[in-house]
Formats: sequence, structure tokens, C-alpha cells
Amino acid sequence: MESVIVAIDGPSGTGKSSTSKAVASALGLSYLDTGAQYRAITWWMITNGIDVADPDAIASASGKPVIESGTDPSAPTITVDGLDASGPIREQDVTSKVSAVSAVPEVRTRITELQRSIAKAAEKGIVVEGRDIGTTVLPDADLKIFLTASPEARAARRSGEIKGSDLTTTREALIKRDAADSSRKTSPLAKADDAVEVDTTDLTLPQVIECVVTLVEEKRAAK
Ligand code: DC
Repeated sequence: MESVIVAIDGPSGTGKSSTSKAVASALGLSYLDTGAQYRAITWWMITNGIDVADPDAIASASGKPVIESGTDPSAPTITVDGLDASGPIREQDVTSKVSAVSAVPEVRTRITELQRSIAKAAEKGIVVEGRDIGTTVLPDADLKIFLTASPEARAARRSGEIKGSDLTTTREALIKRDAADSSRKTSPLAKADDAVEVDTTDLTLPQVIECVVTLVEEKRAAK
């Protein structure tokens, strides 16, 4: 079977992670969560006392942390300097600071290189999820998907994932983060011209997975 590279982009709460992992598992591909890498570098900045409001300080430190991603879709891992970062990167403090850190061009260059080398090493192919995968990281991907959903649907999904969160606060935080991610100068959240847009607002997760699996299979058959 030919190796296949799938880029899945879109804002938060569209079902990107669940879809990407399930599609990779169903098709025997590797899986990379690029948001986790940006969260990991943000966590390192915070724990090392770097002022996340100072882009120069972030840029100077951006080469220091060693970030490693495990790409098995049934058990993805992320470590920073050898430490398991999977818990702390989901904390609110990291979530509120990740947009500022990931907007720094030196951070993006570093993480983009890492992502390209991981994709290259994936023998059977890989599903890579993020914000700029189809536009910047892997512009030659075999298939590009752009997932969307209404702000209400996205907030409801995220609220369900975060214990004790209220819907209005989640919705506002999510809109603010998407606006920052979409308006930054370096590789913003954007749909590639050749991406297939899938609106997940009224679809169940199994329906979205089935839709993407079918699109990948069609691409593979045409290769
Ligand atoms: O997918 P996520 O919510 O875990 O991503 C966290 C942040 O990382 C998101 O707000 C923007 C940034 N990000 C990015 O800039 N580029 C990517 N390819 C993936 C994530």
C-alpha cells in the first residue's frame, strides 16, 4: 500500500483530534497532534520563567526545549526534556498562553521543522492535525481536510471536555483564541485552496470519521 499524508486543519472544537486519531487508527497510519507541540513549548516557557508577553525572550529560548512526539494513534505521547507533558499541556494556564507563544516566528520555524521530519519518517503515512498543516507545513500533502463547525457547536464540545466549565466562558475563550490564531502574521489558521471543507456542526463523530476515511481511500486508490 502506498504511503499517504493527510493534513487536517481547523479551529478548536471541530472534532479535529478525535477525527484524526480515529482515521489514523482505521487506516494503519501514524498520527501527529501539532497543537500538543505548541502547547509543550508553551509549558516549557512558563516553567522556565520566560515572559510569554515578550516575543524576543520567547524567540531566544525557542531552540532550548527538546520536544518528542509519539505517533501511535492509540497512545500518542508528548515529552519535553524527557518529561511526560501530556497532563500539564491541557491546563488552563497553557491554553491561555499558547496563542502568544505560537505566534512567534522562531517558534514556528522550530516546530515546523520537527513536524516535517516526523512526517517524513512515517513509513506507512501519517495524519497530521493543526492549523497550518495544509498551507505551510505539508503543502504537498496527498489530502487536505479543513474542519469547521458553528461557534455554538464548538463551545458545547469543548465545554463537555473541560470539567466544571461554563458554556459562555468557553465560547468566549475559544473565539478569542481562534481570532488570535487566524490573525497572526506567520502561518495563520487558514484553509488551503485545495482543501476539502467539512462542516461538522450537524454531523456525529462517526459520520465525520467515515467521511474522511472515504476521502483518504479515494486518494489512495487514485495514486
Ligand atoms: O489544537 P490545540 O487547541 O491543542 O492547539 C493549541 C494552540 O496551538 C492553538 O491555539 C494554536 C496553536 N497551533 C498552531 O499555531 N499551529 C498548529 N499547527 C497547531 C496549533
